[in-house]
Amino acid sequence: MFRGMIILPMTIFTSDQRKYMPLLVAGTNGVMALKIAKITGSPICYSQIDRYPDGEKYFRFACDVRGEDVVIFNSMHPNPDEILFETILIAETAYQSGAESVSCVFPYFAYARSTEKVRGEATPIHSIVKMLRNTGIRRIYTVDFHLQENVFGVEHHDLSGMEKLAEYCLEEFSDSFTVIAPDEKAVYWAKRFARKTDSEVIALRKIRIDAENVIVDPVRLELEGDVVIVDNIISTGGTVCQAARIAKKAGCRRVFAACTHAILAGDAMMRILESGIEDVVATDTILSPVSHVSVAETIAAALNF
Ligand code: R5P
Repeated sequence: MFRGMIILPMTIFTSDQRKYMPLLVAGTNGVMALKIAKITGSPICYSQIDRYPDGEKYFRFACDVRGEDVVIFNSMHPNPDEILFETILIAETAYQSGAESVSCVFPYFAYARSTEKVRGEATPIHSIVKMLRNTGIRRIYTVDFHLQENVFGVEHHDLSGMEKLAEYCLEEFSDSFTVIAPDEKAVYWAKRFARKTDSEVIALRKIRIDAENVIVDPVRLELEGDVVIVDNIISTGGTVCQAARIAKKAGCRRVFAACTHAILAGDAMMRILESGIEDVVATDTILSPVSHVSVAETIAAALNF
């Protein structure tokens, strides 16, 4: 399987300009790499990733990475474990092949939601951080990363899709709405979103029962007009659906939802529509049927090192 194709008309740069162009390696998020190549004019690097008959992985660059600032694009969904391993293979191969530096863009970074230590339970994020750090990756870029601190121990830029999502909701959903954060963690993103729309933010409280079931505290609320539920991730849809039911019960007119990462596991989209949510919008950190907003420009601007 080939990932990354030189399908762009290659722009001619002077050697001075070229020096500051990172080399984009498509990884699992080739679409994002290509969007950024179009915006910045950076070249895309061919790579081949394959599997031997015994299940082991094969990887090779089909371009020369010597002296290059290599940027790997890998969104960790689906199959986060496999994508993590591929990232490590690509990064180490880049250094072995003489790359000047290796940076990684993880538009969606998995495993950041389970960080609480319960005796005997794994906290995979710590193992992942160690593995990434061992490869010598110099910079990590994420988008609306679930943890607000830098856990990586290397230069970390956490970008946000919230402003762009807010603009979309104003244009496509409603010109005035209340923003609901479905749990305490989501307040951070809801506030960021609401700064752009000048909306009031209401925070709900969530208790997670298991991976698929949550209870959102049925607080007494009185709402009128439209509502947008804002979160960084919609996975099973459980959180957003519970929040939508509470908003409806509180008397709001229409409920919409916005998130950065639309994992939409299993029948999440059906659950969402059944719950009375009119429409959902997400960014393109994960390509989904509701990824109507692009964070490519935000990432492109941040890559200007
Ligand atoms: C969790 O803290 C996140 O911010 C989201 O609320 C959560 O991941 C949503 O998951 P689900 O859609 O499965 O309820």
